[in-house]
Amino acid sequence: MNINRHYLDLQDSYLFATVAEKIAAYEAQNPDQRVIRLGIGDVTRPLCRAAVEAMEQAVREQGTAAGFHGYGPYQGYDFLQDALRQHYAAFGVTLERDEIFVSDGAKSDVGNILDIFAADNRVLVPDPVYPVYVDTNIMAGRRVFYADATAENGFLPLPDEKTDADIVYLCSPNNPTGAVYDRAGLKAWVDYARARDAVILFDAAYECFVTRPELPHSIYEVEGARECAIEIGSFSKTAGFTGTRCGYTVVPLELKRGGVRLRDLWLRRQSTKFNGVSYVVQRGAAAVLSGEGQRQIRADHAYYMENAAIMADALREMGVWFVGGEQSPYVWFRCPEGDSWAFFDRLLTRAQVAGTPGAGFGRNGEGYFRLTAFGTHEDTQEAMRRFIKAL
Ligand code: MLT
Repeated sequence: MNINRHYLDLQDSYLFATVAEKIAAYEAQNPDQRVIRLGIGDVTRPLCRAAVEAMEQAVREQGTAAGFHGYGPYQGYDFLQDALRQHYAAFGVTLERDEIFVSDGAKSDVGNILDIFAADNRVLVPDPVYPVYVDTNIMAGRRVFYADATAENGFLPLPDEKTDADIVYLCSPNNPTGAVYDRAGLKAWVDYARARDAVILFDAAYECFVTRPELPHSIYEVEGARECAIEIGSFSKTAGFTGTRCGYTVVPLELKRGGVRLRDLWLRRQSTKFNGVSYVVQRGAAAVLSGEGQRQIRADHAYYMENAAIMADALREMGVWFVGGEQSPYVWFRCPEGDSWAFFDRLLTRAQVAGTPGAGFGRNGEGYFRLTAFGTHEDTQEAMRRFIKAL
């Protein structure tokens, strides 16, 4: 028996698991200290009323013979696909039900989608980047190349004559830097992918934080993207589903490689390895997309962006250089002292505040640090007070 030795090429532990272990070790040694967690982007606002009521109703249905649902459709229920189609229509994007695959979250889809691509594809990821893009490719033995995302290019790399990739990951608004591509930036990648027969994997998990009308929510707002891009979305940050679990992947019908529709491969993969998201959760997700649900979750987005403003104000007061926190729930700043893991330790031990070291997102993340705006107002204010006092 041989193990998958590519796993040995990974770092020992997943970034957020390492951060959690370090916090737990500190807490075990300092039981009287309360650590404020602004590291992993986990939400704190409860589910909105519309989602809760829809799920309560769905649970009651499940308890009746007439309303009971067993295995659901492989791509998700029509009612959620239709709610998503309406959501996209607001950005001027038309989707077919057949293109929408409901899932248990964007993280799973980001990893699982690789099943439909050969191992010898050249994979390009921005650096710094959400570590799941890199780790899932390493697990499959794929070679990963990096596109430098730096302060000089606004953390938004573009293709150039040297770019040589079959699969390109893009995340906008970006995790971890908070940078957002405009339509021209996305168009440059779409043109590249079409010219090269490459495929873009577009992570739209943070699209709900885009409020400036000139900035796109979806890559399909760019002409030609339906021929080259797969988009992955999530209800986690949008609607507080980090624990409830629901996301989706869009694979356009036009997207073919080697004469094969990628949508057909993805359906084959999902119907073989995945039995769908529960009826109850899909009812909750659809309710989030209703008029009332949208009104309720927008209040949560505004709440988180107030946290971002609190963090931005504190960093300005300290004279610390930062980006993000405007169309994104992440604030990305230059470590005022030391490398990013050393700064993590200092902030934890001096201020009892946990963030995420930039080095955990890639080589170019060294020297930077990420804070999430998904905490409570009280914790965010207290964290920044402690931060200022300690540093
Ligand atoms: C993050 O903190 O980057 C995200 O919450 C992690 C995730 O979505 O898996």
